Amino acid sequence: MNIAIIGLGYVGLPLCLQFARSGVNVLGLDIDPRKIEALNAGRSYIEHIPAASIQEQTTAGRFKSSTDFGGIRGVEAVIICVPTPLNKNREPDISYILNSGEAILPHLHKGLLVVLESTTYPGTTDEDLRAVLERNGMKAGVDFHLAFSPEREDPGNPNSIVAQIPKVVGGFTPGCAQRAIALYSKAIKTIVPVSSCRAAEATKLLENIFRGVNIALVNELKQVYAAMGIDVWEVINAAKTKPFGYMPFYPGPGLGGHCIPIDPFYLTWKAREYGQNTKFIELAGEVNTAMPMYVVHRTQEALNAKKKSINGSRILIMGLAYKANVDDDRESPSYTLLDLFKERGAEMSYFDPHVPVIRPSREHGHWAGTKSVAWNKETISSFDMVVISTNHKKASNQELADWAQCIVDTRNAMADVKVAAGKVWKA
Ligand SMILES: NC(=O)c1ccc[n+]([C@@H]2O[C@H](COP(=O)([O-])OP(=O)(O)OC[C@H]3O[C@@H](n4cnc5c(N)ncnc54)[C@H](O)[C@@H]3O)[C@@H](O)[C@H]2O)c1
Repeated sequence: MNIAIIGLGYVGLPLCLQFARSGVNVLGLDIDPRKIEALNAGRSYIEHIPAASIQEQTTAGRFKSSTDFGGIRGVEAVIICVPTPLNKNREPDISYILNSGEAILPHLHKGLLVVLESTTYPGTTDEDLRAVLERNGMKAGVDFHLAFSPEREDPGNPNSIVAQIPKVVGGFTPGCAQRAIALYSKAIKTIVPVSSCRAAEATKLLENIFRGVNIALVNELKQVYAAMGIDVWEVINAAKTKPFGYMPFYPGPGLGGHCIPIDPFYLTWKAREYGQNTKFIELAGEVNTAMPMYVVHRTQEALNAKKKSINGSRILIMGLAYKANVDDDRESPSYTLLDLFKERGAEMSYFDPHVPVIRPSREHGHWAGTKSVAWNKETISSFDMVVISTNHKKASNQELADWAQCIVDTRNAMADVKVAAGKVWKA
């Protein structure tokens, strides 16, 4: 079987490799020529995907990549894994999906299966994408097949293996669903069929909204309990011993990543069309967005206790990536912290072994080119304050506890290390 996968990022690339490992011939397509160049040279640009696993599939001839979408003429299925961000007014930007549709259109042929994987609002596949694909007269469900199947990638989690994660699939017609189920069955163990593309789109949103709301809940409780002198981490650890009806979520400095801070607002936007409000999503967004400011207040208190102010202090942010042990810094609250402290007159630096240099980006362009500080006693002890935003395994918590003058800990990273009394402030 020959397939094409459009968008070779955190989702598309592992999917290419999983299909290739399963004996499917995969053509990876991306508009970024640097990615194609890297892949064809057997290099990886995603930290947790080893170059060897790319080379294995390219050498076996099962994985090729290109910027030329003409190759779609020779495949039986196309899977779209392109970004779905929010625009500057925090509205869904599905232009990447529509552009992918435009790129497929000249090569759309009878019997082709098109599957969208990008997280999006219900209706994107059967309204927006279908409208593009049907423009030349071919009909979805008749001349070609159309489906939605959400990605469930968990970057950085070694136990998250694409083949083992059940895959939800919804087709535009029952025939479309059958084709999509047959496709994914080649590479993935468990397929979960649902009745429509919309049900599949809504499933992914439920999963991400569930996380966003529960993280907001513990973020709020963290502040309430702190005011009462209760440590929320101790409470969560105790609560999670309940063998039913409870699932632990952990507080932090705010939400990050390409999914949880963004996807719920896709539903908020679409729900308005139906006269519906998404109150939980908005409230969770409000609580989570306010977290970096809470960290600033706690840092202010910690500095104040040492007769210092934020203004003029040298502050180190530990961890730039949005979660531990990955190099993905999209939407990371660490950037918000860098900005908030800098606005208040602090001299800012960061340490992150996974992000040695800040890459250019639309949102954080003003930090581009800034380098991570070195990890040694002399450097770390020179800061007035270290704020733990993300707790990577590569940095030793004990060394940090020994070296730092003062620590604001948003991740409970200092829980199991020996540290001088009064040095750590939880936030
Ligand atoms: N990263 C995750 O953990 C994760 C998990 C679940 C779902 N998702 C969803 O999957 C989708 C993709 O996310 P990602 O993290 O892989 O994004 P990404 O930015 O890592 O990768 C997207 C890729 O698409 C390419 N691209 C953009 N427009 C294109 C076009 N018109 N044609 C071809 N290629 C194009 C980009 O160059 C990039 O390489 C998003 O909708 C996201 O919400 C991501």
